[in-house]
Amino acid sequence: MKGITSSRKSIRHNSNHKDKMIRDYEGKELTKLYDKLRPDYPAEIRDVVLDCLQRNYKQGARKRYMLDVGCGGGKATQLFTNDFEEITGTDISQDQISVARKNLQNRNNVRFQVVDDNRFPVQSNSVDVVLCATALHYMNLDQFLEECDRVLVQGGIVAILYYAPQILRTSKGEIIGDIFSKTSKYHKAVNRFFRNCGMDKAARKHCLNRYESIFDRIANPTKRWETDIRVEHEYTLKEFLRFYATCGGYKKRRYQDSRPDPLCNLRESFCEIFRESGIVCDDNTTLHVTFVYPILIVNKIGGLKNF
Ligand SMILES: C[S@@+](CC[C@H](N)C(=O)[O-])C[C@H]1O[C@@H](n2cnc3c(N)ncnc32)[C@H](O)[C@@H]1O
Repeated sequence: MKGITSSRKSIRHNSNHKDKMIRDYEGKELTKLYDKLRPDYPAEIRDVVLDCLQRNYKQGARKRYMLDVGCGGGKATQLFTNDFEEITGTDISQDQISVARKNLQNRNNVRFQVVDDNRFPVQSNSVDVVLCATALHYMNLDQFLEECDRVLVQGGIVAILYYAPQILRTSKGEIIGDIFSKTSKYHKAVNRFFRNCGMDKAARKHCLNRYESIFDRIANPTKRWETDIRVEHEYTLKEFLRFYATCGGYKKRRYQDSRPDPLCNLRESFCEIFRESGIVCDDNTTLHVTFVYPILIVNKIGGLKNF
């Protein structure tokens, strides 16, 4: 397949790309659960990304090659399979890549590759879109941008996606939590849960401030947020906790640690939040959750470097 180097030696790098890899998404059980319980990305994201690409090219967007970094089971990759001649998804987790290969096995233009460092296994100046969906908070941002700068063609873009179950409402519509509000009990409970699952401070910060801290660190002046996409989901408390059980690190630490199960603590916090609204909750209590999908776009034009 064109656009992929056959040997790592043909890519030149200055910095150490192997310094820290967070391997929280390993294991067949977790990857299966992740695939089942995490929501799919809304189709509108595809339109936004393609529209941004189109605006950079004068004579119709070049849609030859997309790279999905940290692709997991391919939930974001699959939005674009009809749009690009070739797509490569990369991930440090062999189990996630196995799920992705299975999910997209009928797509001849898509390939998946396990990587073991922060380098992108593709040639310089070959990629039209680097996609990174809900994965950048685990990566070294400087190395990610350095690699984007290297592999993108002029006019190409980086599309950084993220999602969070932002607003919690009761079945009567009362708002009882906002994950991005530092004073919200929901924010505090999830922060504690992430910490108990071993997520480091920087990653927690990125996730709990809707990637604003990632946005701030990008020096490229073309960076911008496209309009958020929002999707409502209805869960029982039990189902919503299962969603949180797919967080990287949860399963790993649950079986290794003798500390109380972080998910039990999270459940207790949710019950307390409900109690404050006068609702005695149990596993079947209904929650309305608004997921938000921020889309951060950066153009290759002018370079992407962080400094
Ligand atoms: C939360 S999952 C998101 C997966 C997928 N993009 C999605 O949206 O469903 C984060 C993924 O990033 C991968 N990952 C973490 N660090 C990585 C790195 N340095 N390079 C490539 N993948 C990485 C993990 O293995 C995991 O599959």
